[in-house]
Amino acid sequence: MPKLTVENAGQFEIPQGKRLVNALTDEASVDQLHACGGQARCTTCRVQFVAGEPEQMTQAEKEVLTSRGLIGQPGLRLSCQIVCDHDMTLRVISRLAGSGRADAGSAPAEQITPPPVWTTKA
Ligand code: FES
Repeated sequence: MPKLTVENAGQFEIPQGKRLVNALTDEASVDQLHACGGQARCTTCRVQFVAGEPEQMTQAEKEVLTSRGLIGQPGLRLSCQIVCDHDMTLRVISRLAGSGRADAGSAPAEQITPPPVWTTKA
C-alpha cells in the first residue's frame, strides 16, 4: 500500500488507487477543503507536494490550474485529481479551519471525476 506523509499530521497507509482527496479526509483525518465535490472546478482541494508529485495530470486539472494562473507553482496540485499509487509527501494548504466556509464541501466520489483524460503537467 502506498504511504502518504502529511506534514504535521503523520504517515498513513492508503489503499492502492484511492483518490488523494479522500485519503486526506479518511486516513489522515485532515479537514481538507473540496468545495466542488471533486469535480476539478474549485481548486480548494489544492495541496503542496514536498516529494512524490505525480508525473501524470488529468486534463481537467491542467485546465483549471491554467485558468487560475496556478500551473506554474511548483508542487501545487489538486488532490481530487490524483490517486494514491505511490509514496507521496505533502503539505496541507487549504483547510476548512480558518476558511470561513460552513463545511469542507460535498463528499467526492470514489473515482476521479470527471472521468480522467491523462496528460502531463509540462
Ligand atoms: S477542484 Fe474542487 S474539489 Fe478538487
